[in-house]
Amino acid sequence: MKIAFITGATSGIGEAIALKFAQKDINVIITGRRLDKLNALKSNITSNTKANILALKMDVTDRESVERVINGLPDEWKSIDILVNNAGLAVGLDPIQHGNPDDWEQMIDTNLKGLLYVSKAVLPLMIARQKGHIINIGSIAGKEVYPKGNVYCATKHAVDALTKSMRIDLLGNGIKVTQIAPGLVETEFSLVRFKGDEERASKVYQGYKPLEGKDIAEIAFFITTLPDHVCVNDILMTPLAQANSTIVDKK
Ligand SMILES: NC(=O)c1ccc[n+]([C@@H]2O[C@H](COP(=O)([O-])OP(=O)(O)OC[C@H]3O[C@@H](n4cnc5c(N)ncnc54)[C@H](OP(=O)(O)O)[C@@H]3O)[C@@H](O)[C@H]2O)c1
Repeated sequence: MKIAFITGATSGIGEAIALKFAQKDINVIITGRRLDKLNALKSNITSNTKANILALKMDVTDRESVERVINGLPDEWKSIDILVNNAGLAVGLDPIQHGNPDDWEQMIDTNLKGLLYVSKAVLPLMIARQKGHIINIGSIAGKEVYPKGNVYCATKHAVDALTKSMRIDLLGNGIKVTQIAPGLVETEFSLVRFKGDEERASKVYQGYKPLEGKDIAEIAFFITTLPDHVCVNDILMTPLAQANSTIVDKK
């Protein structure tokens, strides 16, 4: 059975990918900061699928913890076939001149530096086996900026650039690198962006049918099923009601 390592598996897209992979007989290492959520997901998966699950608390912004968790994986979990760099967040939605530097740092530390720390720790395991697939969860915000998206968009443009760079640098090592760049997906994303303001968060998804985590999970699983010589580079996906990062057909 294949092994997948997923960051940010405690909710939304990461949780849906963990569930989908497990349903398809992939053993999954689920990580995130909220241990209670990880344990709940683990018991849900183990009671409904045959996959083995390893749940590990890991904050991607803490380089030492990332190294400790990945270097300390039990031997039977070290052969990681798929790394899903999913942990990420937007914090705040302000014009650049009114932006909060603490929010900026959290986004840069998580979306950009976290992805680097995790990839750096997992790559030696893949390179040793000359085999692997890295799936970076970018965003439509990494393709085109939107008003007040400034720093979040910048971090996702960085994910777009890093995905392309990884593919170049890793060429010849048997490692596929794919970016999945979603548009609007209904998850905890807006609740986090608006710092717990449920009313404001729910408005983001009103008047149209947004994507769900499981839609992204379908695609993430599909690209892992392709023949060894096929590498999907980049997938930009939106709800039918979304034309680009700013135009949404809300009824
Ligand atoms: N929802 C959208 O519309 C949308 C669109 C495009 C791209 N994305 C991207 O999709 C990814 C997943 O977001 P989502 O929509 O599923 O949002 P979500 O429901 O809020 O999930 C975010 C996940 O990231 C984890 N996370 C955040 N900070 C972390 C840290 N420092 N260390 C480890 N894990 C951390 C969270 O886990 P803990 O809080 O437990 O640590 C959670 O599991 C993000 O990269 C986001 O930028 C989302």
